[in-house]
Amino acid sequence: EKGGFDHFMLKEIFEQPKTIFDSLRGRLDLDKSSVTLSGIEAIEDKIKQARRIIIVACGTSWHAGLMAEYVIEELCRINVEVEYASEFRYRNPIITKEDVIIAISQSGETADTLVALENAKEQGATIFGLVNVVGSSIARISHAGAYTHAGPEIGVASTKAYTAQLAVLQLIALKIAKIKGTISDERFNTLLLDLAEVPEKVDFILNNQVENIQRIASKYSGAQDALFLGRGFNFPTALEGALKLKEISYIHAEGYPAAEMKHGPIALVDENLPVIFVATKDSYHDKIISNMQEIKARKGKVIAIVSEGDEIASSLADDFIVVPNCNEVIAPLLAVIPLQLLSYYIGIERGVDVDKPRNLAKSVTVE
Ligand code: F6R
Repeated sequence: EKGGFDHFMLKEIFEQPKTIFDSLRGRLDLDKSSVTLSGIEAIEDKIKQARRIIIVACGTSWHAGLMAEYVIEELCRINVEVEYASEFRYRNPIITKEDVIIAISQSGETADTLVALENAKEQGATIFGLVNVVGSSIARISHAGAYTHAGPEIGVASTKAYTAQLAVLQLIALKIAKIKGTISDERFNTLLLDLAEVPEKVDFILNNQVENIQRIASKYSGAQDALFLGRGFNFPTALEGALKLKEISYIHAEGYPAAEMKHGPIALVDENLPVIFVATKDSYHDKIISNMQEIKARKGKVIAIVSEGDEIASSLADDFIVVPNCNEVIAPLLAVIPLQLLSYYIGIERGVDVDKPRNLAKSVTVE
């Protein structure tokens, strides 16, 4: 049932061209240049009235929520707050009938997320659930929602469910932008086209970079710590890369916004510290290049995720992994793939049971 792969995690990483396609199917229509999401249409009036959107989630799903904050604020010009469900639930948050809450959960059973939603629902908020498991508790208590359609995820570390969440969140942002009239037709169409190309671009990474990533994994598998840095749309990608590495290899890893490194983490940098930069081409590219130079100047080892043809970033890095070019808004869908593979192969090198890392459960139904 692992389809010829050694582990579910690897199988699920390789399924992503298909699962991302499935999450877009029937929703993204290039011919009509439209996005159909019945769950968003059902709460269209609430969205028009909303002064803010609150996203509630845990773990990897929270990282998807953080990316959505960047994308929704950019495209829809509405305030977005991203909350850890456990904190939101206990700190007596201010919730009104005008609030729209997007809950993100692969399992649909995470206890903290579920109870946070129950509380918010009692206070009159509108709940939209973005869930993978059909008929799960979070799906059932939501007023409206969308399924991610990633299929069952067996590996404890989330991979294909994450990229499916990102894909549907991109659609949600585009749909809300249309409803609110905050996006030009031209930008809408460009992003639709770019989103439709994601499955084949993920396929390109899986077909062209695996040996390179395996080599990098064995080179750095003895590391004790690792730092993941990214900016803008790919700041959440850096957090997700660090979480994956922790879970699957037990290497201590931290993710930071690249510029924050100067405010503390830079003290860790020496010749033993791998620093993984998510350095795909975007509007802050020159900034991340100078962050890379700062790490090199302190003898840190730089591993960079770079866009195809980016000579500057690749020549600065000790090792680099190439991803296809795409719109910066959509880049997180591509940039995370090499990070999943890097964690997987480092975990294998270190002899970790990657499908069932110690102490972790697939669905956290206790708080
Ligand atoms: C990380 C991971 C966890 C989950 C978190 C939320 O790989 O799997 O961090 O993302 O426990 O779970 P769901 O999405 O089921 O609510």
